[in-house]
Amino acid sequence: MIRETSIMELRGLTKYYRSSPGIMDVNLEIKEGEIFGFLGPNGAGKTTTIRLIIGLIKPTKGEISVFGKSGTTNHREIIRNIGYIPGDIGLYTELSGNEYLYHLLKLRTGKSYGNYNENLVSLQSRFNIRFDKKIKTYSKGMRQIVGIIQAFMHNPRLVILDEPTSGLDPFMQEEFFDLILQEKENGKTVFLSSHILSETEKVCDRVGILKKGRLIHVEKMSRYRKMAGKNVKIETPEPPERTVEKLGGIVESRDCKIKNGRIEFYYNGDMQELIGALAQMQIRDFVCETPRIEDLFFRYYEEE
Ligand SMILES: Nc1ncnc2c1ncn2[C@@H]1O[C@H](COP(=O)(O)OP(=O)(O)OP(=O)(O)O)[C@@H](O)[C@H]1O
Ligand SMILES: [Mg+2]
Repeated sequence: MIRETSIMELRGLTKYYRSSPGIMDVNLEIKEGEIFGFLGPNGAGKTTTIRLIIGLIKPTKGEISVFGKSGTTNHREIIRNIGYIPGDIGLYTELSGNEYLYHLLKLRTGKSYGNYNENLVSLQSRFNIRFDKKIKTYSKGMRQIVGIIQAFMHNPRLVILDEPTSGLDPFMQEEFFDLILQEKENGKTVFLSSHILSETEKVCDRVGILKKGRLIHVEKMSRYRKMAGKNVKIETPEPPERTVEKLGGIVESRDCKIKNGRIEFYYNGDMQELIGALAQMQIRDFVCETPRIEDLFFRYYEEE
């Protein structure tokens, strides 16, 4: 459930690396219990933003507050209540998965759990990995899973994940998204970056699109689903140009693309009207689908 409490706020957040911009004037508020997808292509500034939030780098300008407190002054408390996976995770490879995780858990919570912590064991049981083996024998995906587990194991209020699914096979990805949904049920707030858009669609309440360091768009997934319109594809026995003409009044011909003898367009109008017009024609094939988030992404990206 998404609460009214604000868990994180970025105000005018700007980071310049020497002269080249990392991010510029990013404003964003994340509510408690929200799953937020932070999207953008390579170099857009996702990792920069996340490193600023965690306090690994300092902003050039702007402010960050987490749990209602300024990010720079309460670093220690913030770190205890945040779980984090960096984009390029580095692990102590001479330790076993278990040794590494229990060691980190002790550092974070200040308590020793020996070899047993219920939350940790429950997280581990989701993934089929030999945690008693040394990390240096783990594959890329297995290391990423250790990273995911450590981000959640101390039961933080806020979890910040920089491309968490990189290197995970489809089964592990499925398990990961299950975990996110379960943590959402538990009231956790999750901020995750990704450039694989379809994956965020499944779990996110809102997505933000970052382009060349600027947050160009923030949208609720539910609103997007309602307002998205449809991608329509039609194939008729007649030349496609002729079909486009017949559809005049329903879609503008300039909005229609002709691909492989098919007409494709984005339709946001009255469905009854479209079906009525199609009923007057001979139709060989008809596809009408909700655009994927990729389409939304590219539409905003190209418009700006
Ligand atoms: N340490 C650094 N020194 C100089 N420039 C940097 C540094 N880190 C990032 N940048 C620049 O800042 C911009 C944003 O990079 P960032 O790593 O935040 O992107 P990203 O969205 O995480 O990309 P990716 O999807 O590839 O991980 C890029 O132009 C990058 O070249
Ligand atoms: Mg990155």
